Amino acid sequence: MAASVCTRPGPPLVSASSFPCPSSSSAERTRASNVSLTQFGSGFEFSTSVSECMSARSLSLGGTSRNSFLGSSHSLRQGVRCKSLRKDRISVIAEAKAMTRPLRIMIAGAPASGKGTQCEMIVEKYGLTHISAGDLLRAEVAAGSDNGKLAKEYMTKGLLVPSEIVVKMVIDRLSQPDAQENGWLLDGYPRSAEQAQALEDAGIRPDLFILLEVEDEILIGRVVNRRMDPVTGKIYHLLYAPPENEEIAARLTQRFDDTEEKARVRLVTHYANVEAVLGFYKDVTQHVDGNRPKVEVFADIDKLLLELQQKESEEGPSNKLDSIPAPSNQDAWRGIPTKLNTTPHSREIREYFYKDVCRAAKKAVEDNITKLKITLLIPELNPEMDVYRIGTLLELIRELAFSFADDGKRVRVCVQGSMGQGIFAGIPLQLAGVRQMLERMDWGDDVKGTFINIGAVGGAEVKPEDDMFILMAPQNAVGNCIIDDLKAMVEAAGDRPVIIINPKLKDLPGSGGNMQIQGREKRMEFAASFFQCYHFRLLYTSGSVYPILGALRMAYPGPYEVFKRVDLERAKEEYVLLDTFEEEPTRSEIGDAYYGRPRKDKNAALEGVWGFLSRVLG
Ligand code: AP5
Repeated sequence: MAASVCTRPGPPLVSASSFPCPSSSSAERTRASNVSLTQFGSGFEFSTSVSECMSARSLSLGGTSRNSFLGSSHSLRQGVRCKSLRKDRISVIAEAKAMTRPLRIMIAGAPASGKGTQCEMIVEKYGLTHISAGDLLRAEVAAGSDNGKLAKEYMTKGLLVPSEIVVKMVIDRLSQPDAQENGWLLDGYPRSAEQAQALEDAGIRPDLFILLEVEDEILIGRVVNRRMDPVTGKIYHLLYAPPENEEIAARLTQRFDDTEEKARVRLVTHYANVEAVLGFYKDVTQHVDGNRPKVEVFADIDKLLLELQQKESEEGPSNKLDSIPAPSNQDAWRGIPTKLNTTPHSREIREYFYKDVCRAAKKAVEDNITKLKITLLIPELNPEMDVYRIGTLLELIRELAFSFADDGKRVRVCVQGSMGQGIFAGIPLQLAGVRQMLERMDWGDDVKGTFINIGAVGGAEVKPEDDMFILMAPQNAVGNCIIDDLKAMVEAAGDRPVIIINPKLKDLPGSGGNMQIQGREKRMEFAASFFQCYHFRLLYTSGSVYPILGALRMAYPGPYEVFKRVDLERAKEEYVLLDTFEEEPTRSEIGDAYYGRPRKDKNAALEGVWGFLSRVLG
């Protein structure tokens, strides 16, 4: 049935105006790009600025020349472990980890909550480099620079200084050698989601985020009585921490923003932003009661820092690097791309995953596996996240379809249509309009209709001339179930491969509850019967999507691989392979691998807050 030669079209695959594009929507945190976002669950809206969406994100999807993408599938060797490559990779990791990593601490709290006071004590004991956003700004003000003049306008009003001034100032300071070598103590930064995001983008994260908590009226009392010694920089309080002698008392100064009126505005500013900042650091945040004598407050902080040091020394260099297994498909291994929380993903990142998926799927088809499942949950393909890019899914489908068409196979690319009848018809949000997009994509004049055809999901869609089927994110909608159509299609396909990509086949509750009950067991059995030939997802602490702690990857015929994300010097990061599993590891097994604990019973309960979030579709 296969035709002889498939010639891929060159770019552009879709012209900028050829089909509508999902619009930007109000993502919970605007940490991703401001173009072409589709937030899963917020409805499928069409952007008025189609051309902007297209050009910004290159939904032209850039064609690659025939056979240039994957290379020969015959070059793939099953489960090959290349020792020399492994050694190189491990020595890089070993070098990075051999260094005892200095502490990175953030301290936050309302004005006068005692940040500066505690920082003095922390620096004295731990020798960290203290970086105070307020001090940096006051230095600019004192220097009379343009930035300083502008900053003063905001500071005197108790408002946040614009990020254009603060962000670069702080990031530059953090990258100075003393901060890198001694570790850093960041005081009063970040103070907004925008500032926190800028740190994320620069790959800068703390080991511990301390939030000092003090009641408002006490704070006001502290502000109005605070004084500074311009000679030593020491902070005094006229009542609680008075100067040691008359000489010091005579030279004390008061900050220009330390009036009750301004302090109240600073408090409002603090409360307006603190939650957004905390959202970035939930996993490393410790609340400390700051409404106690400063030595008592410090005792708590000291304990936290000692625990952290202890943990670092146990988990850092003590990791048994020699026991790190080599990743599978080592001949093609380039390492997991970094900066995966930054969206949109670069073309390089996307292409890495497309290649990874295509290799695994082709190998599985070569091995005559017919019911295949691919799960690729990078942030912009994961409907659970705040950014979902249908363009990336289309791009993946295109590459996969061509990787088979290049071998002369006739591929039917399918997306489900609306389900149900009349007013009850529905369609999963992110699939609305996608059929039209698939039809309009530039598949190449000679290719569409021969090697690549577009279809829906169902038994009647299977044509005698088709060699295989790729199904785009088949999923149940509320009150409607795709499984019967999927089953009929698989049966009609017989021994021809059916590949489902990012399926979501869990039952969803219908208004009458019917869908959950009738035949549920059989449906779930069928959903589970697809062979997972590729799986990638990021690992986070339970209930959060920051920070990325690691990744789980499986590319057929390799095992499941658990990686830990490790921060390196100069805002770089690395994924280090910790362990491999023949079957998909449970959350508990992933946690054990992550912390280097011995393997235990698969069904053991999750421990503490460090259980991992498993974001599996289907
Ligand atoms: P910044 O200088 O950071 O001021 P702040 O956050 O308002 O905090 P303070 O320095 O006033 O207080 P603190 O918590 O350090 O308390 P301290 O230890 O001194 O920022 C100033 C301005 O700069 C901002 O308003 C903003 O305009 C701008 N800015 C700064 N960062 C920015 C950013 N990231 N983005 C944009 N703009 C930014 O203690 C206070 C007093 O209490 C002292 O007198 C002390 O002796 C006393 N005290 C401390 N602890 C205790 C205790 N346990 N018991 C009794 N007294 C205590």
